[in-house]
Amino acid sequence: MKFFLDSAKTDEIKIALEMWNIDGITSNPRHVRNSGKPFLVVIDEIARMIEGTDKTLSVEVNPHHTHVDAMIEEGARLAAMSKNFVIKLPATEAGFKALWCLSERKIPVNLTLVFSAAQALQAARLGAQYCSVFVGWKEANGEEVSHLVGEITRIYRNYDFKTQVLVAAIRNARQIVEAGIAGADIVTAGFDVYKDAFDHPYTAKGLKMFADSWDATPYE
Ligand code: E4P
Repeated sequence: MKFFLDSAKTDEIKIALEMWNIDGITSNPRHVRNSGKPFLVVIDEIARMIEGTDKTLSVEVNPHHTHVDAMIEEGARLAAMSKNFVIKLPATEAGFKALWCLSERKIPVNLTLVFSAAQALQAARLGAQYCSVFVGWKEANGEEVSHLVGEITRIYRNYDFKTQVLVAAIRNARQIVEAGIAGADIVTAGFDVYKDAFDHPYTAKGLKMFADSWDATPYE
């Protein structure tokens, strides 16, 4: 399973690439706002950080677009800026149509704001590279999510769809593990979620015990 970083902050991305070998990056308008930089500046900076690798940055089109043509035009323009960009489109009527058109032009798309298996199936039929299923938002709303990712991965395997299941809005280590058990291809999570997930209090406790023993033992 691949780990993507859900962020547009270049300091976080640098650490995630250098320390964790993160496989890709997902951004959204909220992450770009939180970076404190203009949209085109920040996506260009991130593009340079992953240039020459097979890692991708998912870049979302203007969420105000309601017309297919506007989505296609912006998606194609952004895709031309970097080989590493995957265009993020919403799972709306216009978004699905734009996904279809961009896929036919071999422009990779990450269909975002997916909350049901039916939406995920349509994303795959129309050629999405990634299908972003927002489990964290559903769970925060009190909804049962444990079956959703498993259903989607099963449907994709039934028909040999190449679309990768990207479990998004991950809030904790348990959701990462559940995504893995359900057979997801990718999870995307924030910097602090990974930091917490890669840590365990017993690790520090055990290391301290070993260090004390080391100090009490002659080396030669
Ligand atoms: C996924 O690609 C989204 O950017 C992301 O997971 C959105 O959720 P969040 O910002 O609430 O975590």
